[in-house]
Amino acid sequence: ARKIIIDTDPGQDDAVAILLALASPDEIEVLGVTAVAGNVPLHLTERNARMVCELAGRPDMRVFAGCDRPLGRELVTAEHVHGKSGLDGPTLPEPTMPLQDDHAVDFIIDTLRNEPPGTVTLCPLGPLTNIAVAFEKAPDIAERVAEVVLMGGAYFEVGNITPAAEFNIYVDPQAAKIVFKSGARLTVMPLDVTHKALVTKPRNDAFRALGTPVGMAVAQMTDFFERFDREKYGSAGAPLHDPCVTAYLIRPDLFSGRHINVEIETQSDLTMGMTVADWWRVSGRAPNAMFMGDIDADGFFALLTERLARL
Ligand code: BDR
Ligand code: CA
Repeated sequence: ARKIIIDTDPGQDDAVAILLALASPDEIEVLGVTAVAGNVPLHLTERNARMVCELAGRPDMRVFAGCDRPLGRELVTAEHVHGKSGLDGPTLPEPTMPLQDDHAVDFIIDTLRNEPPGTVTLCPLGPLTNIAVAFEKAPDIAERVAEVVLMGGAYFEVGNITPAAEFNIYVDPQAAKIVFKSGARLTVMPLDVTHKALVTKPRNDAFRALGTPVGMAVAQMTDFFERFDREKYGSAGAPLHDPCVTAYLIRPDLFSGRHINVEIETQSDLTMGMTVADWWRVSGRAPNAMFMGDIDADGFFALLTERLARL
């Protein structure tokens, strides 16, 4: 199994990504979950992360709190999408499992130093603050990372928080810049992929039909999350952005993309946080990321439903 650290700001779609990972021990070994401020402030994301681990029957999972604000910028949150708690929809019990004492950034650094080089994959599902701070504080770790598989950015789909930028990158563009320039092997799930992973009515029914607390909670989370995308964009269902990251670890064949150069805009107010993706390879700049463009959505939902049934 691939050893991973999930860095997250739950978020209903983050929650589903975590559940998918915890349901797949043959392929994925989750070493820890690190929370970051993003969809909602840190005190809620770390709580939600613990709630999701308990829902998965894993109160033994280590959850760490990380950075409570982006580098050099005010925090922008997304309660308009995820609700006041960040995880609106199901009624889940307050978590009782502890939050770890260590800072998430130190956990990331220590793990990458203690495990053999090239064996730990980072899975950021929110703003890249924790990862960037770790890379800055410990410049030796970027080359020890096996791969960074992250959800963020867009090319053809452009933006969802501003006309030019996707939420995770927009919240902390400076952090994103550090990660994209780090030299670590990067795989990116942009909106171009995640807007094809839509929870339509039959897919939602399939979660509910599992007849388990997890199936019901996921159906209720996607019901809540769906309202926003349907009303705002007229889309056919909630996009399951973050689970694309953990699905990729299990079934990389469900995704296709290009190895290209991606730069992050950090100067312009108008296009702040834009992922300038050289899809047509016109810049001559060296490729730094595997930028995904397509997904087998039916295969993805079949995998997700089958795995959630195991919890
Ligand atoms: C990303 O932003 C968050 O709202 C979601 O959890 C996802 O990580 C999509 O732009
Ligand atoms: Ca997220």
